[in-house]
Amino acid sequence: MSDATPAGLTRRELIKNTGKIAAAAAITNSILPGLYAGESNTIQLALVGCGGRGTGAAENAMATTAGPTKLVAMADVFPKKLADSYKNLKGDGKRDAQIDVPEERRFIGFEGYKQAMDCLNPGDVVLLTTPPAFRWVQFSYAISKGLNVFMEKPTTVDGPTTRKMLDLAAESVKRNLKVGVGLMCRHCKARGELFDRIQSGEIGDIVLLRAYRMAPDQTAKEFTKKKPPDMPSELLYQIQMFHSFLWASGGAYSDFLIHNIDECCWMKNDWPVKAMGMGGRHFRGDNVDQNFDTYAVEYTFADGSKLQLDGRGMVGAYQEFASYAHGTKNSALISVGGHSPAHCAIYKGQKVGSKDDVVWKFGQKEPNPYQLEWDHLMEAIRADKPYNEAERGAKASLVTSMGRMAAHTAQVVTYDDILNCEHEFAPNIDKLTLDGPAPLIADADGKYPVPVPGLNKKREY
Ligand SMILES: NC(=O)c1ccc[n+]([C@@H]2O[C@H](COP(=O)([O-])OP(=O)(O)OC[C@H]3O[C@@H](n4cnc5c(N)ncnc54)[C@H](O)[C@@H]3O)[C@@H](O)[C@H]2O)c1
Repeated sequence: MSDATPAGLTRRELIKNTGKIAAAAAITNSILPGLYAGESNTIQLALVGCGGRGTGAAENAMATTAGPTKLVAMADVFPKKLADSYKNLKGDGKRDAQIDVPEERRFIGFEGYKQAMDCLNPGDVVLLTTPPAFRWVQFSYAISKGLNVFMEKPTTVDGPTTRKMLDLAAESVKRNLKVGVGLMCRHCKARGELFDRIQSGEIGDIVLLRAYRMAPDQTAKEFTKKKPPDMPSELLYQIQMFHSFLWASGGAYSDFLIHNIDECCWMKNDWPVKAMGMGGRHFRGDNVDQNFDTYAVEYTFADGSKLQLDGRGMVGAYQEFASYAHGTKNSALISVGGHSPAHCAIYKGQKVGSKDDVVWKFGQKEPNPYQLEWDHLMEAIRADKPYNEAERGAKASLVTSMGRMAAHTAQVVTYDDILNCEHEFAPNIDKLTLDGPAPLIADADGKYPVPVPGLNKKREY
């Protein structure tokens, strides 16, 4: 393939002329990233948030078959996280040619995301894999730099940040940026075929969806003791334990349940209009995080049909990790035993799971959706095809927050209530400094505010 862009510029000329082009693009809304379309050049990557998922996403980005990629910059707030991620990515050296991140392109601190993105050219890709609280801040900067984006789920944690993210999503579409959101189940082949079959009427009209993520272990960072005295920074403690703090992650509810909520909404081909729910802190022991250990939420769609969702993190309790759909004719298994393989199937009547009543089964080996989401994003960038999941990711995050708020306040929360909710959990998130205060303050006893259903009706804490 030629090195010339559709605008007739070589890549070098393009980079030299970026300032002029950016000015022109601002006037005409023409397509900066699309200028790379169809060329065979390497797409550069910057990783912002070098934890478990960020490292995995960088691996997927480098493993894509949709053209060459190279990791050129990394940013984190913890030097050790960045160093460990770099070491893991280097691994056995097989990817050495794709990893070019010298010391001067490794950035630590709250401004690191800007420095890492400054190493890229328009049309390259930044990976936003920090806790979700930082998503809108970093996405804003990526848009201003003309970068394509991969961002992990959830993309927002509350109403105000969702409003910001929806505005940013619209802006990124206007600028023809390609944006992937880490709701990778949407890229699963088995679920995709099930969706087509449901839409063509194979189970009739969906009247009920059920989803469960009930886990036994307490290994995730959703259980938090008081900050140890030898950890000097309250802010960094909360960031490290982000599943425990609503401002950072939306809590265990948002982080863990969003996939099941999103896959159910996908099959229904709609977003719910309201939620009511319950939950409690039965066995938190000396943990001081903001989570409940059980959640039971009923979502209602515009046609009156329901999604019933159960979430639990409790040792010794029954475990299930699955989503189901029940239609007026038949029923369907959307996923069972985790994200992948999904084991999608359709069953006669309501006998979901019954071996003797299988109507259809995906049956084949399922490709890894974490890789597929990257292949799809990179193919769209190369071919300059419209591709933007930012709005859908924000809506999935919003309806997740809707259910969480319903459980935390013990009120019926509508889509409009959560969208227009004024409680922004971390209003100054774009101004945090390493030695500055945290968005959440512990009391004199080292405990954080928790939801009090029925008493706090308008705010979750
Ligand atoms: N799609 C999935 O199946 C999946 C799986 C796991 C995690 N995730 C998502 O990925 C995100 C990260 O989760 P994780 O498990 O990798 O957590 P993690 O703690 O392992 O990684 C997060 C990293 O971000 C860094 N960080 C925090 N704030 C930062 C900032 N302001 N600037 C730069 N770096 C910052 C942390 O130090 C840490 O290294 C979350 O949104 C989570 O929900 C998605």
